[in-house]
Amino acid sequence: MYAALKIVHASAAALSIALFVWRWRLALARSQLLRQRWLINLPRANDTLLLAAAIALVVVSGQNPLVVPWLQAKLLALLLYIVLGTLALKPWSLALRRGAGVAALITVFYIVSVAITKDARGFLVALE
Ligand code: HEM
Repeated sequence: MYAALKIVHASAAALSIALFVWRWRLALARSQLLRQRWLINLPRANDTLLLAAAIALVVVSGQNPLVVPWLQAKLLALLLYIVLGTLALKPWSLALRRGAGVAALITVFYIVSVAITKDARGFLVALE
């Protein structure tokens, strides 16, 4: 059960990142493709699945994400990723879309490194 949930969660995470990068590139190019319904609905459905699997994982493993440091870090970084990801896709200035997109990618890289190491420092541990 736990292993299956983890596969669903990690696969949804990979698809979420791929869809974000694709939509970000479309946003940078001011492409009208970004307005297609499926390019709005698929990421939304997939991100819901990603979060539902995350909730199922913490419930099944009996961990409280508000107390366990690496899960706290993932939750906070997820909020930041959502804000930065939204900014990166909005029709603001090109510089803001670029900067927000790069920051969103660094944030999601941090989230994945925290998931793998189960350490709130994630890849930042390499800087110490
Ligand atoms: C964009 C957001 C997220 C991404 C990209 C992400 C990514 C990942 C990845 C790649 C794994 C597999 C790690 C491995 O197999 O070593 C994983 C595992 C896991 N994630 Fe997430 N995750 C995200 C959000 C969350 C959130 C919000 C929670 C809950 C607070 C969460 C809880 C977990 C748990 C409990 C595991 C299983 C750890 C284990 O037993 O090995 N994730 N995540």
